[in-house]
Amino acid sequence: MNWNDLKARAQAAGGRHILDLFDDARAADFSVTAGGLLFDYSKTNLDADTRDLLVRMAEEADVPGRREAMFSGEKINETEGRAVLHTALRNLEGTPVHVDGQDVMPEVLDTLARMEQFAGAVREGAFRGQGGPITDVVNIGIGGSDLGPAMATQALTPYHDGPRCHFVSNVDGAHIADVLRPLDPETTLVIVASKTFTTIETMTNAATARAWMSETVSDPAAQFAALSSARDKTAAFGIDDSRVFGFADWVGGRYSMWGPIGLSLMMAIGADAFRAFLSGAQAMDTHFRAAQPLENMPLMLALVGIWHNQGCGHATRAVLPYEQRLARLPAYLQQLEMESNGKRVSMDGKDLPVDSGPVVWGEPGTNGQHAFYQLIHQGTRVVPCEFMVGAEGHEDDLSHQHRLLIANCLAQSEALLKGRSIDEARTLMKGKFQGEELERQARHRVFPGNRPSTTLVYPKLTPFVLGQIVSLYEHRVFVEGVMLGINSFDQWGVELGKELAKALEPVLSGDESAGGKDGSTRQLVDFMRLNAD
Ligand code: F6P
Repeated sequence: MNWNDLKARAQAAGGRHILDLFDDARAADFSVTAGGLLFDYSKTNLDADTRDLLVRMAEEADVPGRREAMFSGEKINETEGRAVLHTALRNLEGTPVHVDGQDVMPEVLDTLARMEQFAGAVREGAFRGQGGPITDVVNIGIGGSDLGPAMATQALTPYHDGPRCHFVSNVDGAHIADVLRPLDPETTLVIVASKTFTTIETMTNAATARAWMSETVSDPAAQFAALSSARDKTAAFGIDDSRVFGFADWVGGRYSMWGPIGLSLMMAIGADAFRAFLSGAQAMDTHFRAAQPLENMPLMLALVGIWHNQGCGHATRAVLPYEQRLARLPAYLQQLEMESNGKRVSMDGKDLPVDSGPVVWGEPGTNGQHAFYQLIHQGTRVVPCEFMVGAEGHEDDLSHQHRLLIANCLAQSEALLKGRSIDEARTLMKGKFQGEELERQARHRVFPGNRPSTTLVYPKLTPFVLGQIVSLYEHRVFVEGVMLGINSFDQWGVELGKELAKALEPVLSGDESAGGKDGSTRQLVDFMRLNAD
């Protein structure tokens, strides 16, 4: 991989202004459309030559070959010896997909049908709690067993016509206490979402929920469902097999909301809207597999990411949805991108020759504008920004507010591009200040501009469009991972902290000594012991 060539080009590009790259054709040429979405990356410092280099680098890394390997069920998660087939969960036609010579689709579709039946029964009141029809569903899970359904359930609020859905993830007892307090246990369904059914946060919260329910409900287990691959453990917890929805080891946690982990979302929006969500993702899969490089949206989104991170050295990227209901999308993408591509060793166990994936962060606009955009516009670090906005909102009677929202989104990328020169700043301040004071004041009002951003535009945030957007980002992460030569589908980096937390619990309770710990940890343990009741 020609990382040095890429870095040299990035260094050279630093001496030019993105605005100077614009001619009449650039906006269209540096944009991709797919399935009604428009991805505009013309406000980046990429030129056609470097884009060609990036496309060649993707080919050299065998992105097309690895892509086919993924879709066709090869075991591309080599450190865990697993296939990577979240795409099979949205393969609605059931076209055969084989793992170890066996078609996985009959089971996928059977599980989807079981989910639909159960969600339907809950939504229609045929499945009841001790006190009557289910009014509230509490999904207990963490990481991929929480972020996807929590993000998507909020995103699709206008489509809710089922029970209220709540999400509990943190082991902090405050989370579950606050969620359960206003609920009636007799009309609540608890979904324990955990692929492994061993995650300490989830199992602790599940036990708390069961204790809460057993105060008034005679058979609390009857109001529990489980989303897990570990049937022995769900049975040991007491959950009847008819309410256990399993998935195979080829569904990674952060890629899992398309299957059983999406059950709470299905409860909220119904089976038809859930299928629309799946078909949006499937449409993006089909596009990703078939489109030529320059017309391939996930590929181009990835190449822009590689350019900014590994080429230009920008260590972070901001995801800025101008869509309040996508408030959890940055957190969702943090797991998707950082758990997938935050790795310093390549698939073959060698050190990466370049930086791993970037830090991903963000907040919805316009809120972020009144918080951290100051740094994005005038700080010394460059933060590539990924804006996204819908042409239409759901609140027809508030279309003037939506116009204002769009105006703000487009204005931000324009401001980042153009900036404001010292001359413009002087003119602005001329009436108010003179001489040296004018100069000083003007300098504070200069915007360097020439700061890169991309904008993803969609017609309206429907279930189909949300599916397209999430699938777009999944494939972006995949391409970036292949180009870096890493395994995007394991997550060994989360293990050490888990092990140490387990070992610290008896130290905090006083059952074991802090003797073997480092000085800082010992001091923190002492403080906790002294200050807790
Ligand atoms: O700690 C990381 C992780 O393994 C994630 O990858 C996963 O999404 C999350 O924990 C939850 O795991 P589980 O679904 O097995 O409870």
